[in-house]
Amino acid sequence: MAVGTHGESFMETDPPAPRSARPGGAGGGLDGGAANGSAGAREGSGRDLAGLARVAGRIRDAVESVIEGKPKAVRLALTVLLAEGHLLIEDVPGVGKTMLAKALARSVDCSVRRVQFTPDLLPSDITGVSAYNQELREFEFKPGPVFANIVVGDEINRASPKTQSALLECMEERQVTVDGTTYALEPPFMVISTQNPVEMEGTYPLPEAQRDRFTARISMGYPDPAAELEMLDAHGGSSPLDRLTPVAHASDVRDLIEVVRRQHVAASVRQYAIDLVTATRKHPELRLGASPRATLHLVRAARAWAALDERDYVLPDDVQELAVPVLAHRLLPTAEAQVERRRPEQVVADLVRRLPVPSPGK
Ligand SMILES: Nc1ncnc2c1ncn2[C@@H]1O[C@H](COP(=O)(O)OP(=O)(O)O)[C@@H](O)[C@H]1O
Ligand SMILES: [Mg+2]
Repeated sequence: MAVGTHGESFMETDPPAPRSARPGGAGGGLDGGAANGSAGAREGSGRDLAGLARVAGRIRDAVESVIEGKPKAVRLALTVLLAEGHLLIEDVPGVGKTMLAKALARSVDCSVRRVQFTPDLLPSDITGVSAYNQELREFEFKPGPVFANIVVGDEINRASPKTQSALLECMEERQVTVDGTTYALEPPFMVISTQNPVEMEGTYPLPEAQRDRFTARISMGYPDPAAELEMLDAHGGSSPLDRLTPVAHASDVRDLIEVVRRQHVAASVRQYAIDLVTATRKHPELRLGASPRATLHLVRAARAWAALDERDYVLPDDVQELAVPVLAHRLLPTAEAQVERRRPEQVVADLVRRLPVPSPGK
C-alpha cells in the first residue's frame, strides 16, 4: 500500500495514548510503493504533504513544549528524522542537548534506548551479545540498546574509538552482525548523539570518517534571556519531559519518510548541491572537503526541509539553509585557517553567499 493511495491514514490516526507497556519497534512497516506511479504520486502529494505537516507539527510542538527558544534546532532535528538520517548535537554542557534528544524520542510512540557513553563501555554493550543458555543448550542473542527506533547516544566522545565505531557501523548499515549472524534494525532508525566540544577534557574526538555518518550537526547555543526565564518557570519543579506524551506513531514516521522520499529535486538544484560540495573540496582554507555521502545527505535533508514547508519540490534556498549543519562537521580546516581561527562553518557560509544560485523553475 503506497502512501499516495492511503493518504488519509496517517493524518487521521489519533495521537497515541501515553506510553504503556506497548512493545515498540516491531510491527507496522511499509508495504512498499507498488502502486506508486509517478503521476499518482504527484496527484496525492498535496494531500500527503498536508498530512506530513500536521504530524510533523505535532511532534515539533511537543518538543518545543520542553525546549525553550530553539525553533531552528528543533526543526533540524525533525528534518534529520524525516530524512532517515542521524543527528549529532554538539555543544557545551547544560544547554539542553540530552533534553532535545529525549524530547524528540518521547514525542514518537516508538522504542527508545539511551546509552550513556563512558570510557569503559564495550562494543557489545551497544550491539548485544550471544550468550549460552544452559537450559536450551544453545546460544541466544541478547539484543543491545541499538535495537530501537530512536537511540540516544549521550556524550559519544567519552567512549573509546572501538565502541564509537560499533555504533557508527550500525548507523550506516542499519544492521548488526554478532558472531556471524546479521540482525536488521527496524525503521525508523535514528541515532541522536550528543557530545561536548572537542576541546573539552577527557574525550575521544570522533574521527572525520565517523562524523561523516551524521546527516547533520547542530549546536544548541544559550537560550536568550526570555527563553531562559520561560525555562525557569517550566522546569522549576518537575521536569516537563515527564509530562510529554507521544503525539505520533512509529508507523506515522515511516509514512512521512516515504512522502519525503518522493519529493522532487530539479536537476538544477541537484547540480547546485554538487557545486557547493565540490567547492569545499577545492577550498584553500580546507584540508578535507565534503564527501559524496555528504552530497546525498544534503539533498535528502533538503527534501525533508521542503516537505516541512508543505512544498513538494526542493528550492536552492532549502539547500542553502542546510549547507552549514549538513556539511560543516565533515570538513577539516588547514593549519593556516586554524591559526586564523577560521571555522569550517564560516567557510561554508561564505560559499553559500558566493556561489551562483540556479534560477527558479522546477
Ligand atoms: N533551551 C532550553 N530549554 C529548556 N530547558 C533547557 C534549555 N537549555 C537547558 N535547559 C535545562 O537545562 C537542563 C540541562 O540540560 P541537558 O539536556 O541535560 O544538558 P546537556 O545534555 O546539554 O548537558 C535540562 O534539564 C533543562 O531543564
Ligand atoms: Mg547531556
